[in-house]
Formats: sequence, C-alpha cells, structure tokens
Amino acid sequence: MSSIPPVDLRIQHQAIADEVAQGMAAVLDKTAFILGSVVKDFEAEYAAFTGARHCIGVANGTDALELALRAARVGAGDEVILPTNTFIATALAVVRAGARPILVDSDPDFHLVDLGQVASRITAKTKAIIPVHLYGQLAPMEKVVEFAQGRGFIVIEDAAQAQGARRGGRAAGAWGLAAGTSFYPGKNLGAYGDAGAVTTDSDEIATRVRALRNYGSEVKYHHPELGFNSRLDTLQAVVLRAKLRRLAGWNEARRKAARRYDELLADLGAVTRPQTLPGNEHIYHLYVVRVPKRDEVVKKLNADGIGAQIHYPVPIHLQGAFTFLGHREGSFPVAEQAAREIVSLPMFPEITAEQQRRVVESLRRAVG
Ligand SMILES: Cc1ncc(COP(=O)(O)O)c(C=O)c1O
Repeated sequence: MSSIPPVDLRIQHQAIADEVAQGMAAVLDKTAFILGSVVKDFEAEYAAFTGARHCIGVANGTDALELALRAARVGAGDEVILPTNTFIATALAVVRAGARPILVDSDPDFHLVDLGQVASRITAKTKAIIPVHLYGQLAPMEKVVEFAQGRGFIVIEDAAQAQGARRGGRAAGAWGLAAGTSFYPGKNLGAYGDAGAVTTDSDEIATRVRALRNYGSEVKYHHPELGFNSRLDTLQAVVLRAKLRRLAGWNEARRKAARRYDELLADLGAVTRPQTLPGNEHIYHLYVVRVPKRDEVVKKLNADGIGAQIHYPVPIHLQGAFTFLGHREGSFPVAEQAAREIVSLPMFPEITAEQQRRVVESLRRAVG
C-alpha cells in the first residue's frame, strides 16, 4: 500500500504546471530576475487577498518578521512577548532585530497565546507582542489588539500558518501594525523555494520594509540606513500568483478534510481533536490531535506509512539556542504538556476520503 505523506505538493504542481511554465518562460525571456512587474502584481493581489493596504514580498517568513519589527523600530533594549509554543523562527526574528523575546504559555484548548499570562510579563521595556496564528487559526486578535493598544505597545502578527484564515471576517495579516508570513513550500500558499511577505496598513511601515529588503535603499545607490538583501524572488512570485488564485478553494478543501477527520475520530476517546476558537474560520494548515504515549503512536503510524509529524516537539524555552532566557522544564507547563501529546495528521487539500480512513484506522490501532 502506498504511503500517505504529511503534505503532497505534487498534485498542486500538476494543477498549475502549465501556468507556472509560461509565467517563468516570460520572466526568462525578459531576463527580469529581480523584483519587476510579477512581484508587484503578486504584492497587489496578496494585499487584496488579506485586506491589508500593502504587501511587501521578502525572501522568507523569518525575514518578514524581522523586517516588520525593524520597520516598527523594535530593537535593542526592547522586549517582545510571544508564545513559547511556536516555530523557532518567531523567536529568532526578535533576537535578530536586536530585542529580547519574552515567552508566555499557550491555552490548553487551541494552542494559542495565553493572554492572561501576557499581562504578567509586561514591563517598561515591552515594545511589541507577536501573536502566532498557529496551525491555521487566528489568535483572539480583538483582545490582543485592545490589550496592546491600552498599554501602548504594538502588535506584529506571525501569519506564517494562516494564509486566508479569518476571524470575524477579518483575515490574518490585517490586524496588527504589520504581519509577517511565510511561503515556505509546505504552507497553505507555498512557493517553490523560500519566500515570504510583510502585510501592513501603514504607509510608513510599508516604505521602511521596502527599503530594508533592498539594502536600505529607496533610491538606487543611496542608502540612508543599513538594510538587507531580502527580496521576494521573481520566479517564486510566478508560482505564488498561480497558487493564490486557487487558495480559497484549497483552504475550503482543507476544511472539508478536517470535518471528515472530525467525523472519523468522533468515537475514538483516546484522541483529542483540534478545536476552533469561536469566531475563527480555520484553514487547517495542520490538523493536530492529542494522544497519550505520543512517541509510540507516531512510530506506529510511521510504520504503517502514515506521514505523522510533530509541530513542535520542543517549545522555544527548552531549545538550546534560547537557554540564555533562563527558563527550564516546568516554566510553561501547558506548552510542555502539549509538546508531549500533539501529532499532526496528514493534511493537504487533495487528501482523499480513502487516505483519511487509512490514517484513522492506523491511529485506532496505535492508541488501542
Ligand atoms: C509560525 C511560523 N513562523 C515563522 C516561520 C518562518 O518562515 P520561513 O521558514 O519562511 O522563514 C514559519 C515557517 O517556517 C512558521 O511556521
């Protein structure tokens, strides 16, 4: 029996292969490899998709977060609050911008930032909070924004896992002062290599990110500030334009697949299904369940050819790179407990009912 990958990118490629080939051929014909109209068009289309006024394409999601922080003048001496239960890049971006990450726990049901804890971590140095829209659903953004505004700090969203996700009708990437997103190939909107973007309503942030991604330059060969080379690659923009046209349909297909998993798992008491925070339109970047004896379960699933993964096995505060923050086992018990129990089941728009049945049968045997 063929194995079931965590994500199958080949099917989407088949759907857009001709369009991508033509788009790339046009770029090659013009030898217009850096920025240009394809990047501009994608930026306009992605801004429209999120409802933000501006989109600035950059080299990857980590850079997007770093440049958004830098554009907002978050840096040395500042503290930035973020959940410990996230991908390492959220914290890396803060350190790379020169600021100090201040970690908080997540809530036990949705794996999103625990706002109750945020209040206790605020100091005179707090400059920003980065809510992470983990697994494909938004953090409770109306509360995050109100909370931050009331205390005079800014919100930079980590929207890497939430392209097209909405809360109360408003899309990820359109809530904070700015947002960073990633178009890593496995994301809901994935490029054919690394890529990312900043979205923002602020003209000032947009102008600064545009300069920062381009050696700190708005006018060629004039560099009023230190910048980076972090532009969205033009060939990647071809892929992203083709995929963006189909993204809403693909997200709907993921929701349908999630509902099917929900039904198939309904009688499996040992498995806790993912929950949606009321008000959210989830896009199931990942379908994450919780099980006892997780490592054994994952081994059994993998032995059956099921591409089960863990997002993420080690929270930020227990990563070697962040020992300098001074945390230890027990510092954030909710995230630590989640890290011991979570499993991401195969999830992609084209997953078939038959594949999902096989995943759940294997899971049933593994927990049984
Ligand atoms: C939550 C989160 N933040 C940031 C990133 C960083 O994005 P990239 O890998 O494009 O640098 C990712 C994805 O990799 C992510 O999942």
